[in-house]
Amino acid sequence: MAKYKIAWLPGDGIGIDVMNAARHVLDKLALDAEYIHGDIGWEFWIKEGNALPDRTIQILKNTDAALFGAITSKPKDEAARELLPELQNKGFEYFSPIVKLRQLFNLRTNLRPCKAYPGNPLNYKENIDLVVFRENTEGLYAGVEFHPLPQAVFDVLLANNNKMKSFKDVPLTEIALSTRIMTKTGCTNIVNEAFMYAKKYGYKSVTLVEKPNVLRETGGLMTRCARDVAKNYPGIDLWETNIDAMCMWLVKNPETYGVLVAENMFGDIISDLAAQLVGGLGFASSGNIGDNYAVFEPTHGSAPKYAGMNKVNPLAMLLAAKLMLDYLGEKDKADRLESAVAAVIKEGQTRTYDMGGKNTTMEMAEAVACKL
Ligand code: NAI
Ligand code: MG
Repeated sequence: MAKYKIAWLPGDGIGIDVMNAARHVLDKLALDAEYIHGDIGWEFWIKEGNALPDRTIQILKNTDAALFGAITSKPKDEAARELLPELQNKGFEYFSPIVKLRQLFNLRTNLRPCKAYPGNPLNYKENIDLVVFRENTEGLYAGVEFHPLPQAVFDVLLANNNKMKSFKDVPLTEIALSTRIMTKTGCTNIVNEAFMYAKKYGYKSVTLVEKPNVLRETGGLMTRCARDVAKNYPGIDLWETNIDAMCMWLVKNPETYGVLVAENMFGDIISDLAAQLVGGLGFASSGNIGDNYAVFEPTHGSAPKYAGMNKVNPLAMLLAAKLMLDYLGEKDKADRLESAVAAVIKEGQTRTYDMGGKNTTMEMAEAVACKL
Protein backbone atom coordinates (compact mmCIF):
# COMPACT_ATOMS: atom_id res chain seq x y z
CA MET A 1 0.00 0.00 0.00
CA ALA A 2 1.21 3.49 -0.82
CA LYS A 3 2.32 5.69 2.08
CA TYR A 4 -0.11 8.49 1.17
CA LYS A 5 -3.53 8.77 -0.39
CA ILE A 6 -3.93 12.03 -2.25
CA ALA A 7 -7.24 13.31 -3.60
CA TRP A 8 -6.50 14.40 -7.16
CA LEU A 9 -8.85 17.23 -8.20
CA PRO A 10 -7.94 18.76 -11.58
CA GLY A 11 -11.26 20.60 -11.94
CA ASP A 12 -11.64 22.23 -15.34
CA GLY A 13 -10.03 24.71 -17.72
CA ILE A 14 -6.30 25.11 -17.18
CA GLY A 15 -6.71 23.22 -13.91
CA ILE A 16 -6.32 20.11 -16.04
CA ASP A 17 -3.20 21.39 -17.82
CA VAL A 18 -1.37 22.35 -14.65
CA MET A 19 -2.36 19.18 -12.79
CA ASN A 20 -0.87 17.11 -15.61
CA ALA A 21 2.32 19.06 -15.11
CA ALA A 22 2.20 18.45 -11.36
CA ARG A 23 1.79 14.72 -11.86
CA HIS A 24 4.81 14.57 -14.12
CA VAL A 25 6.94 16.22 -11.44
CA LEU A 26 5.53 14.23 -8.48
CA ASP A 27 6.18 11.01 -10.38
CA LYS A 28 9.75 12.12 -11.00
CA LEU A 29 10.08 12.78 -7.25
CA ALA A 30 8.77 9.24 -6.71
CA LEU A 31 6.37 10.32 -3.98
CA ASP A 32 4.98 7.11 -2.50
CA ALA A 33 1.37 8.06 -3.08
CA GLU A 34 -1.85 6.76 -4.53
CA TYR A 35 -3.68 9.50 -6.40
CA ILE A 36 -7.45 9.19 -6.35
CA HIS A 37 -9.29 11.22 -8.95
CA GLY A 38 -12.22 13.28 -7.73
CA ASP A 39 -14.85 14.92 -9.93
CA ILE A 40 -15.18 18.64 -9.30
CA GLY A 41 -16.00 21.70 -11.37
CA TRP A 42 -18.21 23.13 -14.07
CA GLU A 43 -18.87 19.89 -15.99
CA PHE A 44 -20.48 18.38 -12.89
CA TRP A 45 -22.58 21.44 -12.26
CA ILE A 46 -23.97 21.21 -15.80
CA LYS A 47 -24.54 17.44 -15.77
CA GLU A 48 -25.50 16.84 -12.14
CA GLY A 49 -26.41 20.21 -10.66
CA ASN A 50 -23.52 19.86 -8.22
CA ALA A 51 -19.97 21.10 -8.85
CA LEU A 52 -18.80 19.18 -5.79
CA PRO A 53 -20.53 15.77 -5.89
CA ASP A 54 -20.91 13.82 -2.63
CA ARG A 55 -18.69 11.03 -4.01
CA THR A 56 -15.84 13.56 -4.19
CA ILE A 57 -16.38 14.60 -0.58
CA GLN A 58 -16.16 10.90 0.35
CA ILE A 59 -12.81 10.66 -1.46
CA LEU A 60 -11.52 13.61 0.50
CA LYS A 61 -12.62 12.00 3.75
CA ASN A 62 -10.53 8.95 2.89
CA THR A 63 -7.33 10.70 1.84
CA ASP A 64 -4.46 12.51 3.59
CA ALA A 65 -4.64 15.73 1.58
CA ALA A 66 -5.92 17.07 -1.73
CA LEU A 67 -4.25 18.70 -4.67
CA PHE A 68 -6.63 20.92 -6.60
CA GLY A 69 -6.22 22.58 -10.01
CA ALA A 70 -8.89 25.17 -10.74
CA ILE A 71 -12.56 25.42 -11.50
CA THR A 72 -14.85 27.73 -13.39
CA SER A 73 -17.43 29.59 -11.34
CA LYS A 74 -20.25 31.77 -12.62
CA PRO A 75 -22.90 33.99 -11.02
CA LYS A 76 -26.06 32.21 -9.88
CA ASP A 77 -28.35 33.13 -12.78
CA GLU A 78 -25.81 32.40 -15.47
CA ALA A 79 -25.02 29.07 -13.82
CA ALA A 80 -28.70 28.12 -13.74
CA ARG A 81 -29.05 28.77 -17.49
CA GLU A 82 -26.20 26.37 -18.32
CA LEU A 83 -27.72 23.39 -16.52
CA LEU A 84 -28.86 20.50 -18.77
CA PRO A 85 -32.51 21.06 -19.79
CA GLU A 86 -33.74 18.16 -17.64
CA LEU A 87 -32.14 19.76 -14.55
CA GLN A 88 -33.49 23.26 -15.13
CA ASN A 89 -35.91 24.68 -12.57
CA LYS A 90 -35.44 21.72 -10.22
CA GLY A 91 -34.10 23.87 -7.41
CA PHE A 92 -30.37 23.36 -8.06
CA GLU A 93 -28.36 26.29 -6.80
CA TYR A 94 -24.73 26.92 -7.67
CA PHE A 95 -22.21 27.23 -4.83
CA SER A 96 -18.44 27.53 -4.96
CA PRO A 97 -16.84 24.12 -4.36
CA ILE A 98 -13.70 25.62 -2.85
CA VAL A 99 -15.66 27.71 -0.35
CA LYS A 100 -17.70 24.59 0.49
CA LEU A 101 -14.53 22.55 1.01
CA ARG A 102 -13.12 25.18 3.36
CA GLN A 103 -16.32 25.03 5.42
CA LEU A 104 -16.80 21.24 5.34
CA PHE A 105 -13.26 20.43 6.44
CA ASN A 106 -12.81 23.57 8.56
CA LEU A 107 -9.75 24.58 6.54
CA ARG A 108 -9.30 27.65 8.68
CA THR A 109 -5.77 28.61 7.70
CA ASN A 110 -4.92 29.96 4.28
CA LEU A 111 -1.20 29.95 3.65
CA ARG A 112 0.23 31.90 0.73
CA PRO A 113 3.99 32.16 0.27
CA CYS A 114 5.22 34.82 -2.18
CA LYS A 115 8.91 34.61 -2.93
CA ALA A 116 10.86 36.51 -5.58
CA TYR A 117 12.90 33.71 -7.10
CA PRO A 118 16.07 35.23 -8.59
CA GLY A 119 15.91 35.45 -12.35
CA ASN A 120 12.14 35.79 -12.61
CA PRO A 121 11.67 38.65 -15.09
CA LEU A 122 8.32 39.41 -13.43
CA ASN A 123 9.78 40.17 -9.99
CA TYR A 124 8.93 43.66 -8.79
CA LYS A 125 12.06 43.76 -6.61
CA GLU A 126 14.68 41.30 -5.44
CA ASN A 127 14.77 39.72 -1.99
CA ILE A 128 11.02 39.58 -1.49
CA ASP A 129 10.06 36.68 0.74
CA LEU A 130 6.55 37.12 2.08
CA VAL A 131 4.26 34.52 3.59
CA VAL A 132 0.64 35.50 4.14
CA PHE A 133 -1.51 33.75 6.73
CA ARG A 134 -5.15 34.51 6.04
CA GLU A 135 -7.98 33.43 8.30
CA ASN A 136 -10.15 31.39 5.99
CA THR A 137 -13.58 30.94 7.58
CA GLU A 138 -14.61 34.05 9.53
CA GLY A 139 -14.62 37.83 9.18
CA LEU A 140 -16.20 39.79 6.36
CA TYR A 141 -16.32 36.71 4.11
CA ALA A 142 -18.21 34.49 6.54
CA GLY A 143 -21.34 35.14 4.49
CA VAL A 144 -23.61 36.63 7.14
CA GLU A 145 -25.22 39.31 4.99
CA PHE A 146 -28.60 40.95 4.50
CA HIS A 147 -30.43 42.82 1.77
CA PRO A 148 -32.98 44.12 2.35
CA LEU A 149 -32.25 44.47 6.04
CA PRO A 150 -34.83 42.49 8.05
CA GLN A 151 -36.80 44.69 10.48
CA ALA A 152 -35.85 42.45 13.41
CA VAL A 153 -32.15 42.87 12.67
CA PHE A 154 -32.56 46.64 12.31
CA ASP A 155 -34.42 46.86 15.63
CA VAL A 156 -31.78 44.91 17.52
CA LEU A 157 -29.00 47.04 16.09
CA LEU A 158 -30.84 50.26 16.88
CA ALA A 159 -31.50 49.16 20.45
CA ASN A 160 -27.85 48.24 21.00
CA ASN A 161 -25.83 50.80 19.08
CA ASN A 162 -26.35 54.54 18.96
CA LYS A 163 -24.69 54.90 15.60
CA MET A 164 -27.60 53.04 13.99
CA LYS A 165 -29.68 56.19 14.52
CA SER A 166 -28.14 57.75 11.45
CA PHE A 167 -29.88 55.07 9.34
CA LYS A 168 -33.28 55.14 10.98
CA ASP A 169 -35.01 57.06 8.20
CA VAL A 170 -33.64 54.90 5.39
CA PRO A 171 -36.11 52.31 3.99
CA LEU A 172 -34.99 48.77 4.84
CA THR A 173 -35.03 47.86 1.16
CA GLU A 174 -32.31 50.45 0.65
CA ILE A 175 -29.97 49.06 3.30
CA ALA A 176 -27.48 46.25 2.74
CA LEU A 177 -25.54 44.83 5.66
CA SER A 178 -22.44 42.60 5.67
CA THR A 179 -21.15 41.53 9.05
CA ARG A 180 -17.58 40.98 10.17
CA ILE A 181 -17.79 38.21 12.71
CA MET A 182 -14.53 37.29 14.39
CA THR A 183 -13.95 34.98 17.33
CA LYS A 184 -11.21 34.80 19.91
CA THR A 185 -10.51 31.24 18.79
CA GLY A 186 -10.32 32.20 15.11
CA CYS A 187 -8.03 35.17 15.76
CA THR A 188 -5.79 33.27 18.15
CA ASN A 189 -5.50 30.28 15.81
CA ILE A 190 -4.44 32.22 12.74
CA VAL A 191 -1.90 34.32 14.62
CA ASN A 192 -0.54 31.22 16.30
CA GLU A 193 -0.15 29.48 12.92
CA ALA A 194 1.76 32.52 11.66
CA PHE A 195 4.10 32.52 14.67
CA MET A 196 4.68 28.76 14.51
CA TYR A 197 5.65 29.14 10.86
CA ALA A 198 7.94 32.10 11.65
CA LYS A 199 9.65 30.06 14.33
CA LYS A 200 10.01 26.96 12.16
CA TYR A 201 11.49 28.83 9.20
CA GLY A 202 13.50 31.47 11.08
CA TYR A 203 11.54 34.65 10.35
CA LYS A 204 12.29 37.46 12.82
CA SER A 205 8.90 39.16 12.75
CA VAL A 206 5.19 38.58 12.24
CA THR A 207 3.17 41.53 10.96
CA LEU A 208 -0.47 41.80 11.93
CA VAL A 209 -2.46 43.56 9.21
CA GLU A 210 -5.63 45.09 10.68
CA LYS A 211 -7.46 48.38 11.17
CA PRO A 212 -8.18 48.51 14.90
CA ASN A 213 -8.34 52.30 15.02
CA VAL A 214 -11.53 52.17 12.89
CA LEU A 215 -12.82 48.61 13.25
CA ARG A 216 -12.50 48.97 16.99
CA GLU A 217 -14.25 45.81 18.14
CA THR A 218 -13.16 43.18 15.61
CA GLY A 219 -9.80 44.80 14.97
CA GLY A 220 -9.38 45.29 18.70
CA LEU A 221 -10.07 41.61 19.43
CA MET A 222 -7.61 40.50 16.77
CA THR A 223 -4.94 42.86 18.11
CA ARG A 224 -5.36 41.65 21.71
CA CYS A 225 -5.24 38.01 20.60
CA ALA A 226 -2.11 38.67 18.55
CA ARG A 227 -0.35 40.35 21.49
CA ASP A 228 -1.23 37.39 23.71
CA VAL A 229 0.07 34.85 21.19
CA ALA A 230 3.26 36.86 20.64
CA LYS A 231 4.16 36.48 24.33
CA ASN A 232 4.72 32.78 23.68
CA TYR A 233 7.33 33.50 21.01
CA PRO A 234 10.20 35.49 22.49
CA GLY A 235 12.66 36.47 19.78
CA ILE A 236 9.97 37.01 17.14
CA ASP A 237 8.62 40.56 17.03
CA LEU A 238 4.96 41.37 16.47
CA TRP A 239 4.58 44.35 14.17
CA GLU A 240 1.15 45.94 13.91
CA THR A 241 0.12 47.80 10.77
CA ASN A 242 -3.08 49.09 9.25
CA ILE A 243 -4.27 47.45 6.04
CA ASP A 244 -4.16 50.65 4.01
CA ALA A 245 -0.67 51.60 5.15
CA MET A 246 0.43 48.00 4.61
CA CYS A 247 -0.51 48.17 0.93
CA MET A 248 1.69 51.23 0.63
CA TRP A 249 4.60 49.71 2.56
CA LEU A 250 4.43 46.49 0.56
CA VAL A 251 4.91 48.46 -2.62
CA LYS A 252 7.59 50.67 -1.08
CA ASN A 253 9.68 48.21 0.97
CA PRO A 254 8.45 44.64 0.45
CA GLU A 255 11.85 43.21 1.47
CA THR A 256 11.33 44.48 5.03
CA TYR A 257 8.49 42.07 5.72
CA GLY A 258 8.31 38.33 6.30
CA VAL A 259 5.28 36.60 7.76
CA LEU A 260 2.02 38.56 7.51
CA VAL A 261 -1.21 37.62 9.26
CA ALA A 262 -4.73 38.93 8.71
CA GLU A 263 -8.42 38.13 8.85
CA ASN A 264 -10.20 36.83 5.78
CA MET A 265 -10.75 39.91 3.58
CA PHE A 266 -7.61 41.81 4.53
CA GLY A 267 -5.66 38.59 3.96
CA ASP A 268 -7.29 38.21 0.55
CA ILE A 269 -6.26 41.73 -0.41
CA ILE A 270 -2.65 41.59 0.73
CA SER A 271 -2.09 38.12 -0.66
CA ASP A 272 -3.01 39.29 -4.17
CA LEU A 273 -0.77 42.31 -3.74
CA ALA A 274 2.08 40.14 -2.45
CA ALA A 275 1.59 37.63 -5.29
CA GLN A 276 1.86 40.33 -7.92
CA LEU A 277 5.15 41.54 -6.43
CA VAL A 278 6.71 38.17 -7.26
CA GLY A 279 5.26 37.44 -10.69
CA GLY A 280 1.52 37.15 -10.28
CA LEU A 281 -0.83 34.27 -10.92
CA GLY A 282 1.72 31.99 -12.56
CA PHE A 283 3.68 31.89 -9.28
CA ALA A 284 1.09 32.15 -6.52
CA SER A 285 0.30 28.98 -4.62
CA SER A 286 -1.79 28.44 -1.53
CA GLY A 287 -2.68 25.89 1.08
CA ASN A 288 -6.05 25.66 2.84
CA ILE A 289 -5.17 23.92 6.05
CA GLY A 290 -7.32 22.55 8.87
CA ASP A 291 -6.62 20.37 11.88
CA ASN A 292 -7.21 17.10 10.01
CA TYR A 293 -7.07 17.88 6.32
CA ALA A 294 -5.60 20.29 3.80
CA VAL A 295 -6.24 21.29 0.19
CA PHE A 296 -3.43 22.77 -1.90
CA GLU A 297 -4.01 24.83 -5.04
CA PRO A 298 -2.59 27.50 -7.29
CA THR A 299 -4.28 30.83 -6.61
CA HIS A 300 -5.31 31.31 -10.22
CA GLY A 301 -8.61 30.22 -11.70
CA SER A 302 -9.49 28.15 -14.75
CA ALA A 303 -8.46 30.80 -17.36
CA PRO A 304 -10.91 29.38 -19.93
CA LYS A 305 -9.28 31.09 -22.90
CA TYR A 306 -6.13 29.00 -22.36
CA ALA A 307 -7.86 25.72 -21.42
CA GLY A 308 -6.28 22.66 -22.97
CA MET A 309 -3.69 24.72 -24.86
CA ASN A 310 -0.72 23.48 -22.80
CA LYS A 311 0.31 27.10 -22.57
CA VAL A 312 0.01 28.48 -19.04
CA ASN A 313 2.67 28.57 -16.36
CA PRO A 314 2.55 25.47 -14.14
CA LEU A 315 4.91 26.88 -11.49
CA ALA A 316 2.09 28.07 -9.20
CA MET A 317 0.73 24.52 -9.31
CA LEU A 318 4.16 22.98 -8.70
CA LEU A 319 4.71 25.31 -5.75
CA ALA A 320 1.32 24.20 -4.40
CA ALA A 321 2.53 20.60 -4.67
CA LYS A 322 5.62 21.69 -2.74
CA LEU A 323 3.38 23.04 0.04
CA MET A 324 1.56 19.69 0.08
CA LEU A 325 4.86 17.84 0.47
CA ASP A 326 5.74 20.11 3.42
CA TYR A 327 2.35 19.37 4.97
CA LEU A 328 2.86 15.63 4.56
CA GLY A 329 6.22 15.92 6.30
CA GLU A 330 8.19 15.15 3.11
CA LYS A 331 10.65 17.96 3.75
CA ASP A 332 13.41 16.58 1.56
CA LYS A 333 11.15 16.20 -1.46
CA ALA A 334 9.58 19.61 -0.80
CA ASP A 335 12.99 21.26 -0.66
CA ARG A 336 14.19 19.47 -3.80
CA LEU A 337 11.08 20.54 -5.69
CA GLU A 338 11.46 24.17 -4.64
CA SER A 339 15.17 24.14 -5.52
CA ALA A 340 14.36 22.69 -8.93
CA VAL A 341 11.77 25.40 -9.58
CA ALA A 342 14.24 28.07 -8.42
CA ALA A 343 16.98 26.65 -10.65
CA VAL A 344 14.76 26.65 -13.75
CA ILE A 345 13.73 30.26 -13.08
CA LYS A 346 17.33 31.31 -12.47
CA GLU A 347 18.62 29.74 -15.69
CA GLY A 348 15.91 31.45 -17.69
CA GLN A 349 16.14 28.90 -20.51
CA THR A 350 12.57 27.71 -20.12
CA ARG A 351 9.86 30.33 -19.84
CA THR A 352 6.11 30.29 -20.41
CA TYR A 353 4.34 33.15 -22.17
CA ASP A 354 3.65 35.13 -19.00
CA MET A 355 7.43 35.25 -18.39
CA GLY A 356 8.03 36.45 -21.91
CA GLY A 357 8.92 32.99 -23.27
CA LYS A 358 7.43 30.49 -25.69
CA ASN A 359 7.65 27.24 -23.74
CA THR A 360 4.62 25.12 -23.02
CA THR A 361 3.19 24.01 -19.70
CA MET A 362 4.68 20.53 -20.10
CA GLU A 363 8.06 21.85 -21.23
CA MET A 364 8.23 23.87 -18.04
CA ALA A 365 7.26 20.80 -15.99
CA GLU A 366 9.87 18.75 -17.82
CA ALA A 367 12.55 21.39 -17.14
CA VAL A 368 11.73 21.19 -13.42
CA ALA A 369 11.65 17.38 -13.53
CA CYS A 370 15.11 17.37 -15.16
CA LYS A 371 16.53 19.39 -12.27
CA LEU A 372 15.26 16.75 -9.86
P1 NAI B 1 -7.94 33.33 -13.85
O1 NAI B 1 -7.00 33.25 -12.72
O2 NAI B 1 -8.54 32.06 -14.30
O3 NAI B 1 -7.21 33.98 -15.10
C1 NAI B 1 -6.96 35.35 -15.28
C2 NAI B 1 -5.82 35.55 -16.26
O4 NAI B 1 -4.59 35.34 -15.57
C3 NAI B 1 -5.80 34.53 -17.38
O5 NAI B 1 -6.60 34.92 -18.44
C4 NAI B 1 -4.34 34.52 -17.73
O6 NAI B 1 -4.05 35.62 -18.54
C5 NAI B 1 -3.68 34.69 -16.40
N1 NAI B 1 -3.30 33.41 -15.77
C6 NAI B 1 -4.00 32.67 -14.86
N2 NAI B 1 -3.31 31.58 -14.52
C7 NAI B 1 -2.16 31.61 -15.22
C8 NAI B 1 -1.03 30.73 -15.29
N3 NAI B 1 -0.95 29.60 -14.58
N4 NAI B 1 -0.04 31.06 -16.13
C9 NAI B 1 -0.09 32.17 -16.86
N5 NAI B 1 -1.11 33.04 -16.83
C10 NAI B 1 -2.14 32.77 -16.02
O7 NAI B 1 -9.08 34.37 -13.42
P2 NAI B 1 -10.45 34.77 -14.14
O8 NAI B 1 -10.23 34.91 -15.61
O9 NAI B 1 -10.96 35.91 -13.38
O10 NAI B 1 -11.44 33.56 -13.88
C11 NAI B 1 -11.64 32.47 -14.76
C12 NAI B 1 -12.50 31.46 -14.06
O11 NAI B 1 -11.80 30.90 -12.96
C13 NAI B 1 -13.79 32.04 -13.50
O12 NAI B 1 -14.82 31.14 -13.74
C14 NAI B 1 -13.49 32.18 -12.02
O13 NAI B 1 -14.65 32.09 -11.26
C15 NAI B 1 -12.60 30.99 -11.80
N6 NAI B 1 -11.70 31.09 -10.63
C16 NAI B 1 -11.44 29.93 -9.96
C17 NAI B 1 -10.56 29.91 -8.92
C18 NAI B 1 -10.26 28.60 -8.28
O14 NAI B 1 -10.48 27.58 -8.89
N7 NAI B 1 -9.73 28.57 -7.09
C19 NAI B 1 -9.88 31.12 -8.46
C20 NAI B 1 -10.15 32.28 -9.28
C21 NAI B 1 -11.05 32.24 -10.31
MG1 MG C 1 -8.47 36.64 -3.95
